[in-house]
Amino acid sequence: MHTLEERRAADPRRAILVGLVLPGQPVYVVEEHLDELAQLADTAGARVAGRAMQARKAPDPATFVGHGKAEEISASARELGADLLIFDDDLSGSQVKNLEELTKLSVMDRSSLILDIFDQRARSREARTQVELARLKYSLPRLTRQWSHLSRQGGGVGLRGGEGESQLEQDRRVLRSRIRRLEEDLEKIERTRNVQRHGRAGAPTVALTGYTNAGKSTLFNRLTAAGTLAEDRLFATLDAKLRRGSVDGARTAVFADTVGFIRKLPHHLVSSFRSTLGEVTAADLVLHVIDRSHPRWEEQAAVAEQVMDELGVDRGRVVNVYNKTDLLPADEPRNGQALWVSAATGEGIPALKAELGRRLGKMRTRDSRDSRDSRDTIPRP
Ligand code: GTP
Repeated sequence: MHTLEERRAADPRRAILVGLVLPGQPVYVVEEHLDELAQLADTAGARVAGRAMQARKAPDPATFVGHGKAEEISASARELGADLLIFDDDLSGSQVKNLEELTKLSVMDRSSLILDIFDQRARSREARTQVELARLKYSLPRLTRQWSHLSRQGGGVGLRGGEGESQLEQDRRVLRSRIRRLEEDLEKIERTRNVQRHGRAGAPTVALTGYTNAGKSTLFNRLTAAGTLAEDRLFATLDAKLRRGSVDGARTAVFADTVGFIRKLPHHLVSSFRSTLGEVTAADLVLHVIDRSHPRWEEQAAVAEQVMDELGVDRGRVVNVYNKTDLLPADEPRNGQALWVSAATGEGIPALKAELGRRLGKMRTRDSRDSRDSRDTIPRP
C-alpha cells in the first residue's frame, strides 16, 4: 500500500498554470505570481508542464480566459501531456464547469490548490476540522445546478425540505448543516485551547508568524532548541507548536510556531483557522518573520500584516524580524529599526533575544502595575 503522497510522487499530475494580465498590471508581476503558483503546485504533488497568460480588460464571466484562449490552452495541454489546469485566481463554480466541458481537462483554482495542500498536511483533529470547514465554505457558493439531478420531491413521509426542493437545494442544506456541526466542534476545541492557554498564565507567549517559507520554524528551533520540521516547502507547519525557550538569562517564554500566510489565502481558510491562529492573537509578543532575501519581501510582509489585521492582532505587539540575512549582499544597507537575523547561521539571535527580554520586561512591569491599580479600585469593607 502506498500513501496518497507516495502515489502522487510516483505518478504526479501534469499541470498547466494559467494567469490573467489585467489592465495596469505589469506582466512580470503576473509571472512572479505564477512562479509562486508553481511552488504551490509542486508542494501539492503536481508537476508543472507549462504556463499560459492572457491580457484582458476583465475576466470572461463564462470561462475566465477567452473562449478561444481556453481552446488554445487545451490543445497545448494535449501536446504537453497535461491533464490539469490551475488558475491563479478564484473561479466561480460555473466557470470551472464550463472550462472542464470545453477543455476536457480537470480545472482548479489557487484557493482549491491551497486547500488541497492543507488537506494533505492536516494531522491533528483541530487542523482537520478547520480544513474541512474551509473546504465546505469554499464549495457552498460553487455548487452548480446539475439539471440532470434535479428532482422534484413529493413531500412524502420523512422528507424534510418539502415539495419542489431541487437536488441543488438539498445539497446546499446538507453542506450548511455539516458546516454548523464543524463550527460547533471547533468552538469546543477553542474552549479547551483557551483553558490550556490560561494554564500557561505566568509565562509570556511569543508567537512567530509571517509569509510561508519565511523561516518561522527554523527560527522557532533556534529560540527553543527544538527539532521542528523545517522544509523548503510551503505550509510545512499547520498545527500551532508550543515550546519553552529562554529569552535573557533567567527569563523564559512560551514560543508558538504557527501556520504561514500567502497571497490570496482563501478567506475561509483564515476564518476557519481562527483557533490555531488564536495563538497569534493571544500572544504577548508577535515576531513577524520576513524573508528579507526574497525579491518580493515587501509584498509578502504586507500580506502577512493584512492577515494579522484581519485577525485583530494589536500592531503594538508586533516585532519585525528580517530573516535570511546570510543570503543578502554584505553591502546591503540595514536600517536600525528592524531586527536582522539569520535563523540558519544564528547571526543576530542574541540581539533578538535581548530585544524580546526588554519588551517582555517592560510589559511585565506595566501589567503588574495595571493589576495593582485594579486591586486598588476594589472597595474595602
Ligand atoms: P511554512 O511552514 O511554510 O510557513 O515555512 P516556515 O516559515 O516555517 O519556514 P521554514 O523554517 O520551514 O524555512 C523555509 C526554508 O528556508 C527552509 O529551507 C529553511 O532551511 C530556509 N531558511 C530558514 N531560515 C533561513 C536563513 O536564515 N537563511 C537561509 N539561507 N535559509 C533559511
